[in-house]
Amino acid sequence: MIILGYESSCDETGVAVVSTQHGLLAHRLHSQIAMHREYGGVVPELASRDHIQRVLPLTRETLQAAGLTLDQVDAIAYTAGPGLAGALLVGASVARSMAWALQLPAIPVHHLEGHLLSPLLAEPAPAFPFVALLVSGGHTQLMKVEGVGQYELLGETLDDAAGEAFDKSAKLLGLGYPGGPALSNLARQGRADAFDLPRPMLHSPDLDFSFSGLKTAVLTRMKALERQAGGLSETQRADLAAATEAAIVDVLAGKAIKALKRSRLNRLVVAGGVGANGPLRKKLLDAVRLMNGEVFFPPLDLCTDNGAMIAYAAAMRVQAGLVDLDVNNHSFTVRPRWELAEQSSTAAA
Ligand code: KG4
Ligand code: ZN
Repeated sequence: MIILGYESSCDETGVAVVSTQHGLLAHRLHSQIAMHREYGGVVPELASRDHIQRVLPLTRETLQAAGLTLDQVDAIAYTAGPGLAGALLVGASVARSMAWALQLPAIPVHHLEGHLLSPLLAEPAPAFPFVALLVSGGHTQLMKVEGVGQYELLGETLDDAAGEAFDKSAKLLGLGYPGGPALSNLARQGRADAFDLPRPMLHSPDLDFSFSGLKTAVLTRMKALERQAGGLSETQRADLAAATEAAIVDVLAGKAIKALKRSRLNRLVVAGGVGANGPLRKKLLDAVRLMNGEVFFPPLDLCTDNGAMIAYAAAMRVQAGLVDLDVNNHSFTVRPRWELAEQSSTAAA
């Protein structure tokens, strides 16, 4: 079965073709980062309009790259949530209209399920069961994954997501959008131990996170330096970036290891944009190796939002028998807020 998939939940338009037999055939991406940069963050209305302009040309490019035509497609998948309502509606309307016109089933996909299953696109792919650390701009969650559609929430952030902690701290340090990669780049020139920042909830008995205090701690350090010396030197900026990154990485890694031990599992899967972070990857690789376990990441270009993970998650759900393939079902909705655990086939009805 050939599935054409769309991602448009935030600031990336992603289109991909996946075969249930042969995996990913082609994918194309347009990032809106350059457009939103001058506003310091995503402007939802601009995001929606840009998705509209990009989605059809990207579809043509993707099909061409896969050597396929539309009449060879068997189903159309799209991100149904969570995300920006207007942006989601673009991908959903295009996918649903095409499915209707071509008499094909349409498959709504949970954005986080896309991230969660994206490490299965890498070689070697993890076997079930595993613990997943989902770290994106909007979410920070630890999940126990028994199989496709079998997701148990172990812990999550009580306030800001890890990506948000990167983005907000980066903004305070005068770095551009998106802050995660910018802060991480600057951190490479700094010393993490030059500032002593808190590790919120690292030793709490649960598997939850809290990151909102971290940006306050960064701001407090910056204000103190402004009072003392009129501002931060370039070295201090790099040191503070390194200290912030180290604090976020310590907490994420500490809780991920605790989740593995609690679940008595030794396979960890890391997904979402923050999964591209170099120091986080290294720390998790080292820590999991110490417990004779394995850690899996999505291919680097599939860490942040993309269409491949959506088409792939749809393919996995089809194979697991979790999808309604009725071609006459045309009603649809998008869900800007949507818990992944609700998508679990094992969740209480
Ligand atoms: O998964 P994603 O592309 O979009 C959402 O679904 O939110 O994640 C985007 C987040 C942003 O907060 C961005 O700053 C962060 O991932 N990010 C990083 C890195 N690359 C992206 N954070 C830290 N280090 C990176 N290298
Ligand atoms: Zn995402």
